[in-house]
Amino acid sequence: MSKVFTVVSGKGGVGKSTFCANIAISLAEQKKKVLLIDGDAALRSLDLLLSVDSMVVYDWLDIIEKRCDYSKARLFYNDNLQLLPAPLCCPESLTKEMFSDMLDIFREEYDCIIIDAPAGTGKLPMLYAALSENVIVVATPDEVSARSACVVGNALIKSGIKEDNMRLVINRFDEKAVKKGKLLNIDDMIDKTYIRLLGIIPEDRNLMYFSVSQKLLPDYSDTKNAFLNIAKRILGKEVQILL
Ligand SMILES: Nc1ncnc2c1ncn2[C@@H]1O[C@H](COP(=O)(O)OP(=O)(O)OP(=O)(O)O)[C@@H](O)[C@H]1O
Ligand SMILES: [Mg+2]
Repeated sequence: MSKVFTVVSGKGGVGKSTFCANIAISLAEQKKKVLLIDGDAALRSLDLLLSVDSMVVYDWLDIIEKRCDYSKARLFYNDNLQLLPAPLCCPESLTKEMFSDMLDIFREEYDCIIIDAPAGTGKLPMLYAALSENVIVVATPDEVSARSACVVGNALIKSGIKEDNMRLVINRFDEKAVKKGKLLNIDDMIDKTYIRLLGIIPEDRNLMYFSVSQKLLPDYSDTKNAFLNIAKRILGKEVQILL
């Protein structure tokens, strides 16, 4: 039976989709079966990040609205990692029950289902979060991102998500800039968001190149290790949070 994770943020562009793609790759490398769902209807990006865009014909709305069988919408990145692309638009009539029925098709087969949500506190992030065991809030170490992560955290709690099922990932962390006082430090981020820390991903140009060249992170790099450590924590292993 799979565990479902929704990845959200307050403001946009903080690295949710980059995080989703790379954490899914790390979990798959840990021999877990992973289904990545692009939940960002209209602004899908995971098909591009995983370089399967040319194979997209159907999406998860086609499964919900019974235009295709689930196996036709699912794209294989590798044996352990598959992607469900997002529809180009999402009808107002979509309900939690409809999405939940679609998730149920996959729950037996996968160890982890990761949903990449749109930024903000709109209907879709709240709907996905309500169907997830855990919600991961991604934020960059600056005041605007921290405040918006706090806002999304409060909205999640108001919608019924338990504080204990919510975790923070600080993305684009640059230790040198923090030491110079140019970026918020880890304690500031936790204090300002009121969300417990799951992990820290460094600022890394390789992640930017990933979206164009699909070149994977080099093995044993700090960033690769950061994803690996978060993947292990997600799987319930005790791994120290290191910079
Ligand atoms: N750790 C990082 N280091 C350097 N660049 C990063 C890092 N994480 C993400 N980026 C870059 O930041 C940009 C935004 O990333 P991404 O599209 O993943 O954000 P997002 O939160 O999914 O955006 P949106 O809210 O629009 O869906 C991309 O150019 C990506 O390559
Ligand atoms: Mg995105």
